[in-house]
Amino acid sequence: MSLAPVVHSVTATAPAKINLYLGVGAARSDGYHPLATVYQAIGLLDEVTVTPSSSYKVTVTGDDRLALEDVPRDGSNIVVRAARLLAGHSGVNEAVAVHIVKGIPVAGGLAGGSADAAATLVACDELWGLRTPREELLQLAAELGSDVPFALQGGTAVGSGRGELVAPAMVRGDYWWVVVESPLGMSTPKVYREFDHDHEGTEVPDPVVPEELMEALRGHDLEKLAQALGNDLEPVSLRLRPELADVLATGIAAGALGSLVSGSGPSCVFLCTGRDHAQQVVASMRAAGLGPVSFARGPVPGARVERVG
Ligand code: C5P
Repeated sequence: MSLAPVVHSVTATAPAKINLYLGVGAARSDGYHPLATVYQAIGLLDEVTVTPSSSYKVTVTGDDRLALEDVPRDGSNIVVRAARLLAGHSGVNEAVAVHIVKGIPVAGGLAGGSADAAATLVACDELWGLRTPREELLQLAAELGSDVPFALQGGTAVGSGRGELVAPAMVRGDYWWVVVESPLGMSTPKVYREFDHDHEGTEVPDPVVPEELMEALRGHDLEKLAQALGNDLEPVSLRLRPELADVLATGIAAGALGSLVSGSGPSCVFLCTGRDHAQQVVASMRAAGLGPVSFARGPVPGARVERVG
């Protein structure tokens, strides 16, 4: 008789997301905002390792520039909420220690916390041998946060509802993005509150993804895509962080085709024509004194198990 191998730890990765378009409607009665968005997962990854433990614990490592001190180490961390949610859903009576290796800026508008949650879901699913159906994982992900289902799914997708409903988009080819981080994170609820404030007393139309943007993705038309990029939260981000306007202008001056504040900010992303072009734009932006600047390719897959130990 052969025994199933004992699993000691599972490591999973999940990608950062950018919103190629982020249309925001008027706040709903639950406080969330209806979104019409196009997500793309880019090759900037967080890694999560889960190990059986007598109690929930969180440890974090990664580059010092990533504001690691802002990542909660207690039960309020979204990774603990993710593991507990899956355990409760599946009748598992176990706890895990979660180690996060951050590659995604903290509170940067790139959904790093959501990536960690998605990676934790797939890692715990493997550790506990659950094989939870995809649809159920997506539902649990939606309970954890609006961006978590997309972090599970990856690729390029149209997001609706409060962002939790994701439908894969038809996309041709690769897209290269320069990413400029900000040393200081930004609070998503605060950005949405300011958006509400700006629109008080006005009729906010229901958001719609522009058809030109979807056509540009289907045809890999980079010029057209650059024109169609958009973010309804960008005016708020630029008001809260006026220096971001210079960051966006510097990227365009460096030759990027298009620029965008990512999600609620403050990270900024720049569309390039390819890998070499992205490297050139990175070099020019660094020479202009901006930092940290990196580049990444999209689309990449969503959260997935990398190693079982
Ligand atoms: O869903 P998630 O927990 O990531 O959202 C964080 C916060 O961002 C919410 O508490 C809410 O203030 C704001 N938000 C929103 N509308 C959305 C998504 C997020 O107002 N569609």
